Amino acid sequence: MRLEQLKEILSEASQVFVLTDENVAQYWLPELEHWLGCEQAVEIIVKPGEKYKTLRTAQKVWRALLRHNADRDAILVNMGGGTVTDLGGFVASCYQRGIRFVNVPTTLLAMVDAAIGGKNGINFGNCKNQIGTFTEPLEVMVNPICLSTLPERELLSGLSEMVKYGFIADDAMLKVDESNYEQYILRAGDLKREIVDDDPTDLEQRRVLNFGHTLGHAIESFSLSSETPLTHGEAVALGMWCALYISVKQCGLHEEVLIDYEPKLRTLLSEVEPCFSQGDVDAIMAFVEHDKKNKHGHASFVLLKAVERPLVDQYVPEAMIREALGQMINLIDSL
Ligand SMILES: NC(=O)c1ccc[n+]([C@@H]2O[C@H](COP(=O)([O-])OP(=O)(O)OC[C@H]3O[C@@H](n4cnc5c(N)ncnc54)[C@H](O)[C@@H]3O)[C@@H](O)[C@H]2O)c1
Repeated sequence: MRLEQLKEILSEASQVFVLTDENVAQYWLPELEHWLGCEQAVEIIVKPGEKYKTLRTAQKVWRALLRHNADRDAILVNMGGGTVTDLGGFVASCYQRGIRFVNVPTTLLAMVDAAIGGKNGINFGNCKNQIGTFTEPLEVMVNPICLSTLPERELLSGLSEMVKYGFIADDAMLKVDESNYEQYILRAGDLKREIVDDDPTDLEQRRVLNFGHTLGHAIESFSLSSETPLTHGEAVALGMWCALYISVKQCGLHEEVLIDYEPKLRTLLSEVEPCFSQGDVDAIMAFVEHDKKNKHGHASFVLLKAVERPLVDQYVPEAMIREALGQMINLIDSL
């Protein structure tokens, strides 16, 4: 959809609401509202970060919609990173059984991944994305200018998801780095759309997108309770290392792929000092147990036979998962 078309749809809505977080509001709210021609929108500003992707924040947004008498012809515009687009998509898809929403991603991660594909949700019971919906946004409008204020660490977090597309779908994406990422944003979005279009409700092939995420989510959930939580992308970067390690052991992936990834991993983690000890493996395993992708009591993995040849729904014995986590912890000590 062209910008002009979207502006027209917004102008015909009964009301436009803009959901954003405090950081994005500070840098971009007036500019983005002007860009979309929705300066009169009702603004709903929530606290930033994963910690607030909760039922409590969702309730706050629903209350604001109710207070302003939002009806089914209202549109919610989610301006922000993946936490805002996940939360806002969830809120919109449940409010009065579903109102339209538009995603305007402002982080690299949201531009190439989170804002696309219709998976919406909140964290619940200490676990990531436990409650959610599948509902496609009316449109995703990307304006890369927003990235100019993005902290380096958040940029690297987005790069991590771009590298993921390199492993599962297009090895050219493995060349992405801090100097050239802008030229790969559209390609990354297209790759996600292609995968999602084939399997919108995540029953089969869309699961390739979970490469690195089974352990990535467990590592992220574990780190959320620490003093220095990892970003989503940092946790996924570590989860991908584990998935590659297991793929070498279990699926015949060439070991060079794992070795070649290590300098990239160092870059992806360069803004943080991940702090794990071998004693943390048990606690991370407890999150693996809870993972929603568990099937018949087993964690389900996406592994690689080769680059661009992902295998979904792979069973990995617990001992192998523990070995991969242990080796990952040894590795980050040496990075
Ligand atoms: N739905 C999906 O398919 C999908 C896919 C991948 C990730 N996700 C979810 O996305 C979330 C992570 O998203 P994220 O990495 O974008 O994190 P985020 O939304 O928490 O944003 C990271 C930080 O950057 C700030 N920020 C956002 N845009 C900014 C800008 N332009 N300038 C300055 N600061 C800015 C935010 O306020 C926040 O502090 C996770 O909850 C993850 O589960 C969802």
